[in-house]
Amino acid sequence: MKLSPDMWIPPIERKPEGVPKIVALGGDGIGPEVVEATLRCIEALGLPLEISRPIHGTAAVNELGNPLPDETKRTIDAADAVLFGAIDTSVGNAKAALLYLRFDLEMYANLRPVTSVDCIPSIIGGDNTNLVIVRELTEGLYPGREGQLSDLTSKWPEYRDGRGKELPKDGAFSLRVMTPEAIERIVKFGIRLAKHRKDKGYSRGHISLVHKANMLRVGDGLFVDICRKHIEESGLSYDEIYVDEAARRLVAEPQNYDVIVTSNLFGDVLSDVASEAMGGMPMVPSAAIGDTGAYFESCHGSAPDIVGTGKANPAATILSGSMMLSYLGETEAAARLIDATLGTIRSGIKTGDLGGSATTDSFTDAICERLR
Ligand code: IPM
Ligand code: MG
Repeated sequence: MKLSPDMWIPPIERKPEGVPKIVALGGDGIGPEVVEATLRCIEALGLPLEISRPIHGTAAVNELGNPLPDETKRTIDAADAVLFGAIDTSVGNAKAALLYLRFDLEMYANLRPVTSVDCIPSIIGGDNTNLVIVRELTEGLYPGREGQLSDLTSKWPEYRDGRGKELPKDGAFSLRVMTPEAIERIVKFGIRLAKHRKDKGYSRGHISLVHKANMLRVGDGLFVDICRKHIEESGLSYDEIYVDEAARRLVAEPQNYDVIVTSNLFGDVLSDVASEAMGGMPMVPSAAIGDTGAYFESCHGSAPDIVGTGKANPAATILSGSMMLSYLGETEAAARLIDATLGTIRSGIKTGDLGGSATTDSFTDAICERLR
């Protein structure tokens, strides 16, 4: 399938004034390696961009005792786009930056495209997969609204569950919150993307609403009601799929999906499953777009086991960089970046995860060579 950057992201009206300001946050693990590789490719494109690398994460903890100093927050706030590496949720320090982007700056529309590419063998989906998961990124189970059941029951003793039972006294709870505002803005983004893909002839403009309203009757009931209303008004075709069945279909027939609109945790899980249709996690890019800013990162983790070995495949971050250029209105450069990345893989220069022997650096050199 011929890949075009605007398959993955609709045109954004918000164009930067003057030279676009990019903030690069490498984060933990292999994050800094794949971000630097991406910046080298972007620099090879010769665009006027102002790139800054504000201190964050472990370096900021060591020097300033704070993983996300105020000065770094201000730099992020003033940026047109953020390129992000990866975080290690167990021992890393970059989590503060990611949480700031997601929950404080509300970059809510997480686009995770999975497109089959001829030069990358995939274990599912043949060569016709062309889907985008539109994951709500600010609420659901994610913002860490958790605590001890004893605290909850002492403050809310009369609460009864769906079976009319009291909550157990011992244990912990995690609150899953769904608000009409967040549901509305994510489904509207999904509709915008589906319409754009249809208008451009990339897909049939179909939305799959993925949820679990058979068990989460109130929270996902609200999600489905609001999404359904907006999609019906849009005139697009749609279906509603329970998340367990949606996961099975992603393995059995990923090529039948177009745009998937779903809540936070479901989108997290489904994007890892779907990634196999594109050759795996080291290939899948993402964008997280809000009303005032956006950040771009791979869907993969920080891979602590291969840090510093030169084994990291920077492709997912480079393709995220291409989504960032599209977002900034640099569509031609975005397309060149995709072509150079896939052209390099097609020529046999690829990292170990794709069966090649290139290192992060030699793979990046080959892409830059094509861009000059
Ligand atoms: C992702 C990651 C993150 C998430 C982790 C690192 C917090 O898995 O972006 O998919 O769960 O959202
Ligand atoms: Mg994930």
